[in-house]
Amino acid sequence: MRIGVLCSGGDSPGMNAAIRGATLRGVDIHGFEMVGFVDGWRGFHEHEIVTLNRPAVRGLSGVGGVFLGTSRVAPFAGGPGEADLTDFRVRMEGYGLDAFILIGGNGTQRVAGIIDDAGIPVIGLPKTIDNDLDGTDYTFGFDTAVSVATEAIDRLRTTGDSHRRCMVLEVMGRDAGWIALHAGMAGGAQAILIPEFPESFDQVCDWVTNVRDRGRSSLVVVAEGFTLAGSDHAVTREGLDGFGRPRLGGIAELLAPMIEERTGIETRATVLGHVQRGGAPTAFDRVLATRTGIAAADAVLRREWGTLAALRGDRIEMIPIADAVARLKTVPEGRYAEVRLNFG
Ligand code: F6P
Repeated sequence: MRIGVLCSGGDSPGMNAAIRGATLRGVDIHGFEMVGFVDGWRGFHEHEIVTLNRPAVRGLSGVGGVFLGTSRVAPFAGGPGEADLTDFRVRMEGYGLDAFILIGGNGTQRVAGIIDDAGIPVIGLPKTIDNDLDGTDYTFGFDTAVSVATEAIDRLRTTGDSHRRCMVLEVMGRDAGWIALHAGMAGGAQAILIPEFPESFDQVCDWVTNVRDRGRSSLVVVAEGFTLAGSDHAVTREGLDGFGRPRLGGIAELLAPMIEERTGIETRATVLGHVQRGGAPTAFDRVLATRTGIAAADAVLRREWGTLAALRGDRIEMIPIADAVARLKTVPEGRYAEVRLNFG
């Protein structure tokens, strides 16, 4: 069996470990031939291929980024229900592929679903720092992003305390507040603002003022997709990403001067940005990524097409790709409520 491995969407710490896990299992144990496409679908369109084998993945489990490259290039024209896979099938035959392992988040696994609906053998390998794929408890990359954001909070805390300032930290996550929630909890933030639960500006300022009145400095964590109550869209940077979605970001820079003006407390904004996605994965992400890679290769052997390697408790289980992309996994009310009680 000849398997094509592809990454799509933003990178996520652990992708190298996942490819290594799938390759060592697939090639050495199951006897597959495996190839990787450089920069995802771009390499598929433009014939840029590398052979995946033990030497190709040597030493990769702790290395950040993804050696194959990733992009948001589309695999074919048209979306669900209207995808034109004619050219896609011709290319696939040209490469002699029997199946795909697709490594990606929501957008990529939606594509995997379309490919599966068209009867093309595919296994999904989930990754995203946003942790917003349904059906899996965590995706690799998330733990690393949370660790980086937590370290940033710890650092902002000492400089903020020294100057008696309010520090506002913006983290990634698109439409889900998982990174903000977990990093904010880990760092003891005085307010955590996430897309799932808009808060009024008055409420945010009350929290910040309460903290000052107790003689402390506030650390506010805001997710890039957060909106103030009454506002109907998140702050966006110019333009769309490769999947046609608005690029989010800028809410911290908007909020900080507003908070300063209203409360009289000197306030600074920090946008953490791609630092959250860069660098070496945590041990947790390396293990999760390696295990999902192994599970994906095993699923190929069992021909469990249309399934995705999901973490359920401490087990990796294959679940239908359709279940993972049916809805976004957002922060449930209970998780927000338990931490919100202590804001301010
Ligand atoms: O989906 C992962 C993610 O890091 C989001 O949290 C963020 O909004 C987006 O990707 C940034 O994408 P880009 O790398 O295109 O700037």
